[in-house]
Amino acid sequence: MILGERVRLRAIEREDLPRFVLWLNDPEVRQGILIAIPLSMSQEEQWFSHMLERPSEEQPLVIEIKTPEGWKAIGNISFHTVDWRERSTEVGIVIGEKSFWNQGYGRDAMQLMLRHGFNNLNLNRIFLRVYASNPRAIRSYEKAGFVHEGRLRQAHFQDGQYVDVLIMSVVRSEWQA
Ligand SMILES: CC(C)(COP(=O)(O)OP(=O)(O)OC[C@H]1O[C@@H](n2cnc3c(N)ncnc32)[C@H](O)[C@@H]1OP(=O)(O)O)[C@@H](O)C(=O)NCCC(=O)NCCS
Repeated sequence: MILGERVRLRAIEREDLPRFVLWLNDPEVRQGILIAIPLSMSQEEQWFSHMLERPSEEQPLVIEIKTPEGWKAIGNISFHTVDWRERSTEVGIVIGEKSFWNQGYGRDAMQLMLRHGFNNLNLNRIFLRVYASNPRAIRSYEKAGFVHEGRLRQAHFQDGQYVDVLIMSVVRSEWQA
């Protein structure tokens, strides 16, 4: 368990899979991520089995928030492949419960993940890719401390048109400062 004030990150359980399928089939949620084809429960179960074989630091974590009724799962966050020579990795986040968007939970979860990456895993650089068409995500990452680093022009095709993909990152030295 990685504990913050309003948010905590925990390992995924098999029981989480149905809510993941609901989130990842929501057209509004999918606008920001690289999933364009409807996802079935069977595909998600297959993904879960493969995921368990990955190194533990690359396994996604469930984002839970503190509510009056207790902790509630609202999304997930993960480091993709960790490059141990460069001490670098990419991070990805999805908050599937749309009623909790725009309340700072994305920023809080990302800041917890940065702390985990720098303080527990001893990483030096954490980066992400975000569609230029996703201003909510871009703003949330800026608030979490990410710096704009580059732009891959027309690197993503969405709704019949190309959009740019932005690269943002945090390096250990600026995070410590
Ligand atoms: C992207 C995501 C993780 C952000 O998390 P969140 O908790 O909703 O975001 P936060 O509350 O931390 O920050 C959102 C910020 O964007 C702002 N914002 C929202 N819509 C905006 C818009 N259309 N234009 C500009 N800013 C916008 C909010 O006002 C807020 O900024 P503020 O606190 O300065 O007012 C979450 O919305 C999500 O998972 N979306 C669906 C999947 C996705 O897009 N994942 C990211 C893939 S790169």
